[in-house]
Amino acid sequence: EGSEEQLGKVGEATNYMKLKKALVNKRYAPTYHAVSPVGWVNDPNGLSYFNGNYNLYFQYNPYDTVWGPMHWGHYTTKDFIKWELENVALAPDMPYDNEFGIFSGSAIEYDGLLYAMYTGVANGLQQQCIATSKDGINFEKLTRNPVISEKQIPNDYSKIDFRDPYIFVSNDYYHVLIGTKNKNNKGTLLLYKSKDLKSWNFVGEVLNTNKQNEKNYCSVDGVFECPSYAEIGGKEILICSPQFLAQEGIKHQNIHSVVYMIGQFDYQTGKFNYEEMNDLDSGFDFYAAQTLKTPDGRTIMIAWMQMWDRNMPTQQDGWAGGFTLPRELSIKDNHLYQAPVREIEKYRIDKVTYQNQTILSNKPLALANISGKSIELELTLNVGNSKKAGVKLFKGTNNETLLYYDSVNEEVVIDRSNSGQVITGKETNNKTRRAKAKLINGTIKLRIFLDVSTIEVFINDGYSTLSTNVYPDLNDDRIEFYSENGNAVLNEVTKYTIKTL
Ligand code: FRU
Repeated sequence: EGSEEQLGKVGEATNYMKLKKALVNKRYAPTYHAVSPVGWVNDPNGLSYFNGNYNLYFQYNPYDTVWGPMHWGHYTTKDFIKWELENVALAPDMPYDNEFGIFSGSAIEYDGLLYAMYTGVANGLQQQCIATSKDGINFEKLTRNPVISEKQIPNDYSKIDFRDPYIFVSNDYYHVLIGTKNKNNKGTLLLYKSKDLKSWNFVGEVLNTNKQNEKNYCSVDGVFECPSYAEIGGKEILICSPQFLAQEGIKHQNIHSVVYMIGQFDYQTGKFNYEEMNDLDSGFDFYAAQTLKTPDGRTIMIAWMQMWDRNMPTQQDGWAGGFTLPRELSIKDNHLYQAPVREIEKYRIDKVTYQNQTILSNKPLALANISGKSIELELTLNVGNSKKAGVKLFKGTNNETLLYYDSVNEEVVIDRSNSGQVITGKETNNKTRRAKAKLINGTIKLRIFLDVSTIEVFINDGYSTLSTNVYPDLNDDRIEFYSENGNAVLNEVTKYTIKTL
C-alpha cells in the first residue's frame, strides 16, 4: 500500500498498463494504426506538437475493456504512423476530477510548457482544468483548478454537461470551445477567451439554438461533444460531435455523428456563421475527431474509430478502441477534403499494379497478388452500365465485406452484413453506410486502407470518406472485383502492403 501511495494514480495506471498489455490477444489489432494497448480507449485528446514529438493523448481506462474512470493515455510519434506508447499522462486524483475522471480536452504550447486542458468530472459537475508539462510526459495540475468552474457558466446552460474544451488561438486571444446543452436540453457550444490560459471570460453561444427563423438555427437533443477548430487557407472550420443527431436520408446514420461547418466566427458575440453542417465521415466507426497544426502548416485530424453503444468483439481479447489514420484536411471549392497523412507512403512495400481489367457482369475477378489484411488499395473503376460495381474485401470461405458504387443512387456503399462477427448498435441499419459520390468520366476513384479489422475509404481524392471496422475470420485476406447487371472496367488498380515493423 505504501508504495502505491508513493506511485500515485498515474504511476499505478502506468504500471498496470505495462504489466497487462502483454496479455492482450492481438488477433484483430491493426498493425499501422494507434489502438488501445490494453483496456478501454475512446476520444483522441490533446493533439499537439511539442518537444520534437506529436502527441496523441486519449481517453483511457487501463483497468477494464469497458468505459470507466477516465485517464489520459499517451502515444507519441514523429511521423503519424509509428507510435510510441508513453506513460499514462493524467489520472483522477483531485477533488474536482476523482469521480468519473479526466474527460476529453486539448493541449497547446505556452511559455515553453505544454498546457493540457481537460474536463474534471466529480460531484455532479463538469469543470475545465489545466495540467502543465515540461516534457509532454509528466504533468502537474494547477493549484487554481478548475480554471473554468461551474460559477462561470451562464444560467441558461447545463452544469452537468459542460465538457471537452478545445483551445485555439485567434484574433489575439486564446479561445476555448466547450460542449454543452441549454435549458431546453438542446446541444450547443460555448466560447470563452483568455490572454494567459488561466483566467477565462465568457464570450457567447457559438451555435444558434433558440432563434428558429434565423440563420444557423440547429436543434439537437444531445451534447455537442468534442469540438475542434482549424483555420485552413483563411477559412475557419468548426468540427464537433453532436449526440443523437437525427438521421436525414443518408446523412447522420450513426447514433452520434461528427459534423463540420466551414464559416466564420464573430469573436464579439461568439457566433459561428456557416452555410451547411455536413458529416465529416460517412462510415460506421468514427467519432470525436480532433485536429492539430503541424510546424509545416498542415491540418491533421484524428478520430476515435469506434461508436458508442455497439458490441466490440475485441473486448474479450483485452482491448477496445483505436484511432483512424491521421488525415490531412484541405478545402477546395468550399468543400472539406481528407487525405491519409502523406507519411504513410514511406511504409509501402510490394507494389502490384494492373491496367485495363474487364470485370464481367456477375463473374467476380481475382488478380494475382492482390490480397492482404494490412494494405493500401487504389482503384480507378469505370462502372460502365453496371448497377453495382466494386470490390470484396477481407474475403474468405464464409465472409466478405462489400464496397461498391451504386449507380442508381450515385453513392459509394460499404456493406458489412456478411463481414464476420456481427456488430449491432442503436441504429436501425447495422448493415450499410453510404456516401454520395459523382462519377468522373464514368469512373470512381477509391483509395482504400485495410488494417486487420479496419477499413478506411477515401472517395474521389477524399471528397468523402467511409471508416468502418470489421471482424472477419483470421485468414480472410482475399480481394475480388465484381460487377452486377453490366460489365465494368478497372482502368487501374494498385496494391501496396503497408509494413511498419
Ligand atoms: C465523447 C465523450 C466526451 C467525454 C468523453 C468521456 O466520446 O463522451 O464528451 O469527454 O467521451 O470519456
